[in-house]
Amino acid sequence: MHADRHQWLNAAVSAAATAADFIAQEARTHRAIQWEAKSATDFVSHVDLGAEERIRDTLLARIPGLRIVGEELSNDGNPEDGLVAIVDPLDGTTNFLHGFPNYCVSICMALNGVPQAAVIHDVARGGVYTATAGAGAFVDGQRMHVSTIAEPARALIGTGFPFRDVSYAERYLAMMRRLMPATAGMRRAGSAALDLTDVANGRFDAFWELWLNPWDFAAGMLLVREAGGRVTDLEGREARLLGGTIVASNGTLHDWFLDILNDRLG
Ligand code: IPD
Ligand code: CA
Ligand code: CA
Repeated sequence: MHADRHQWLNAAVSAAATAADFIAQEARTHRAIQWEAKSATDFVSHVDLGAEERIRDTLLARIPGLRIVGEELSNDGNPEDGLVAIVDPLDGTTNFLHGFPNYCVSICMALNGVPQAAVIHDVARGGVYTATAGAGAFVDGQRMHVSTIAEPARALIGTGFPFRDVSYAERYLAMMRRLMPATAGMRRAGSAALDLTDVANGRFDAFWELWLNPWDFAAGMLLVREAGGRVTDLEGREARLLGGTIVASNGTLHDWFLDILNDRLG
């Protein structure tokens, strides 16, 4: 493996583990946690902030001067410029606050818009998902591969609801309506980063969400690609590290998935 990527991955894995330990500790008393609403359906607590502080401190101790684009504390500029850590300190905040065991820490190290190393640490169930560019994707050190399912009728699809901007609702519901009879089922588990580990690990055959921020999907995007899958926008262009619609799949189903999402199947 490229020496820098190795160093970046190690730093990210160590930062994610430190944050995951803190989140797991706080989860024991989650009912006592005070939350604030960033918007009507978007919450934050001292746990998101404390996790990001720990990630920032660990990363900067290992890579002095590193720029961090983090959700809560340090949204420091363009995620496609230079070397940057793209950080979601707690993906699945609403799940965490309710004690629903599906939340994680997500960190992607990217260089000039190209993901280089990524980690998603599943806090509640355990599992450390890692990838480096060109060297594959792993869970707890075991190689991961996307599914081989080619028949839409057998596909399990992950998704996220457009809960922050209900102006997307009609378009989104029309997509669901088309997918419902065409697939084996749909799941909305509440953490986009973990949804992408599910695609990378072959549990989901595809996933889409109409609007995601870079920290929701950057690490998961590298995992899916390194596990053999595809990640694009709704038009089928390779996804970049800017926010937007994310369509991920095992690759085999990708063209069909884009067609049904875009209502091209008649
Ligand atoms: C959210 C989760 C959720 C997705 C949202 C994200 P957060 O992140 O990933 O599954 O539907 O779009 O914003 O707020 O829990 O970090
Ligand atoms: Ca998130
Ligand atoms: Ca978050």
